[in-house]
Amino acid sequence: MSTEAPGALPMVVPTQGLPPRVRIHEVGARDGLQNEKATVPTDIKAEFIRRLADAGLTTIEATSFVHPKWVPQLADAEQLFPLLDDLAKTRGVHLPVLVPNARGLDRALALGARRVAVFASATESFAKANLNRTVDEALAMFEPVVARAKEAENAHDQVHVRGYLSMCFGDPWEGAVPIAQVVRVCGALLDMGCDELSLGDTIGVATPGHVLELLAALNEQGVPTHRVGVHFHDTYGQALANTLAALQHGVTTVDASAGGLGGCPYAKSATGNLATEDLVWMLHGLGIETGVDLGRLTATSAWMADQLGRPSPSRTVRALSHKEQ
Ligand code: HMG
Ligand code: MG
Repeated sequence: MSTEAPGALPMVVPTQGLPPRVRIHEVGARDGLQNEKATVPTDIKAEFIRRLADAGLTTIEATSFVHPKWVPQLADAEQLFPLLDDLAKTRGVHLPVLVPNARGLDRALALGARRVAVFASATESFAKANLNRTVDEALAMFEPVVARAKEAENAHDQVHVRGYLSMCFGDPWEGAVPIAQVVRVCGALLDMGCDELSLGDTIGVATPGHVLELLAALNEQGVPTHRVGVHFHDTYGQALANTLAALQHGVTTVDASAGGLGGCPYAKSATGNLATEDLVWMLHGLGIETGVDLGRLTATSAWMADQLGRPSPSRTVRALSHKEQ
């Protein structure tokens, strides 16, 4: 059933105290597709990323150079990454990739990756489940990775490193996660040289007050807000509210996944990320620039939903979609 006309836009009502522009870090091709039961063919992944770039996204996390047995859905990283060469070289699209260790970094650098992300955990249970390490052993594994990425003398030649931190707001095995525990690991990631942090609500349990408390605690420890991005999964429908709280605090980097794809294969109860379309609808309604064409983005997620054979979980994709989903 047809609902809104395609390309429909929210009414713009700017609000005081919010940033004029937000950088969307698109994670659908990595966080989304790593969690699909079926492995999406490499050429469809490349087409997905190309369409996301055509919709105006400029930071698109492409894949992971992890152990293929751990995440078989992304085992084609070596085949996929070269198909995107022109996006990075001629269109200036950033294509970050996940690298857990030196082996992952070698694989990524061999293909010319210029942005990588290590991914730590605030809790011991998830560190074990996701990386087969304790929290500190995982940090020790990342240290030489970040050091090598930063080795070039000229800052322009250095590889940009993002430090993800999972389970910042709750853990399915351990429950509540003390803020001090989160702040400690954030500090360790920055101390080893990460350029930015992404605070992961891996299982989507955060609420806005909790987000503000963590951001304030990071500021108190000397972590400036401009080095922090937020990464909300939407399990309890809180992702947009949490994002708005983060924007009010001054955060300008927000992770989201086209169509709301996503989850984590190693975290019980993780569902999809905040949908990029839902985020863009809110940001544009607030008069915040993103550079994204919502109509093209929605068409891309509707196309991807067809490829996956199931409807998109994004409310905005459904509302703006032509056909019944
Ligand atoms: P391990 O089994 O402890 O590995 O796994 P190891 O270091 O003992 O090595 C065992 C074998 O794996 C060796 O091969 C290595 O060469 C090989 P062998 O000598 O036995 O033949 N190996 C690799 N092969 C290819 N690429 C590599 C690699 N590393 C080792 N990079 C490891 C440790 C870290 C590798 C494993 O635990 C792993 O790959 N984990 C990745 C899990 C993952 O990708 N999870 C999802 C991403 S995180 C996420 O989604 C959360 C996030 O979205 C934020 C949020 O929502 O909170 C980011
Ligand atoms: Mg995630």
